[in-house]
Amino acid sequence: MRSKISSFIMIPSFLSVVIFIFYVFLVSYNHISYLVHPITIFFFIIITILLCVLESINHLIFIRKLQFLSKEERKKIFEENEGNYFYRLYRFMFFDSKKIYHDDVKKIDHGFDGIIELDNKLPMWWIHLFYLTIVFSAIYFFSYLLIDFSNPYKEYDIAYKNQLKEIEIFEKNTPQVTIENASFRENLINKGKILFEENCATCHNSDGSGNIGPNLTDDYWINAKEKDLFKNIFYIIWNGSDNNPTMRAFGQSGEIKGNDIEKISSYVYFINKKFKKSLKGKAPQGRKITEWSKI
Ligand code: HEC
Repeated sequence: MRSKISSFIMIPSFLSVVIFIFYVFLVSYNHISYLVHPITIFFFIIITILLCVLESINHLIFIRKLQFLSKEERKKIFEENEGNYFYRLYRFMFFDSKKIYHDDVKKIDHGFDGIIELDNKLPMWWIHLFYLTIVFSAIYFFSYLLIDFSNPYKEYDIAYKNQLKEIEIFEKNTPQVTIENASFRENLINKGKILFEENCATCHNSDGSGNIGPNLTDDYWINAKEKDLFKNIFYIIWNGSDNNPTMRAFGQSGEIKGNDIEKISSYVYFINKKFKKSLKGKAPQGRKITEWSKI
């Protein structure tokens, strides 16, 4: 007797479902790469082709066998195998195949209202979907209870760690700017402003006009370590102030990376050039450096 659905439809569909499930559920665990590998897909195709060959051999054997069966048996088999695969698949999924050929459907008599109800069997797709939901819920129930699979907190942890690793790799591969190659760049000003507000505004005020720390928008400087204004700003953010540990060494301690110090320095340089005359702030500290006040 032949199976209702041909194996060369059954097995690839089954494999597709398995691959789909793996892909959906395991992709966050990074185990997926070997499944969507070209070699896997190649095997998938080869298996399907082999199954097709097997199927046609089966068919030949089946035809040979038919010759040895009685007329009755042959008729029955022909009825069940009527139409092509897809028609049979359709019949199998949506109807109870026995119901079509044998008129022995149970009838339920309601009695009191005279209505007779046909006790049809549920279609195959419905029953299988129902079983699938049971299997699905069991898998999820136990995985939630016992293991980390599909646990959102664990998934978050893994994603978080992966991201940190990516950042680490990125930072290793992109060398940070140092005082030697740092320079004022206009396109960094906006990013520098954000970083300045996060890291420096508590002591220097968000516009740089000074608070605990000195006014950064005037021509007076306590610390003049470099010849160039931009480099001087970079130097102080990197090394901190020798006279006053309140201005700490953001760069040396690793608190702020070179690239970000370049951004902040660009912002400080920019506000020093721009607001010098107009902005009222903390009274000047240090000495006036006239070369730096030229615009
Ligand atoms: C905890 C308070 C504090 C924070 C935060 C702080 N500073 Fe300062 N900063 C100071 C003090 C105080 C001084 C004065 C140091 C001195 O007297 O030498 C100073 C000095 C400076 C100077 C030199 C000014 C001069 O006249 O020599 C610059 C430039 C500067 N800070 C920039 C920054 C930047 C940029 C940030 C953020 C990355 C920052 N500071 C964060 C307190 C702070």
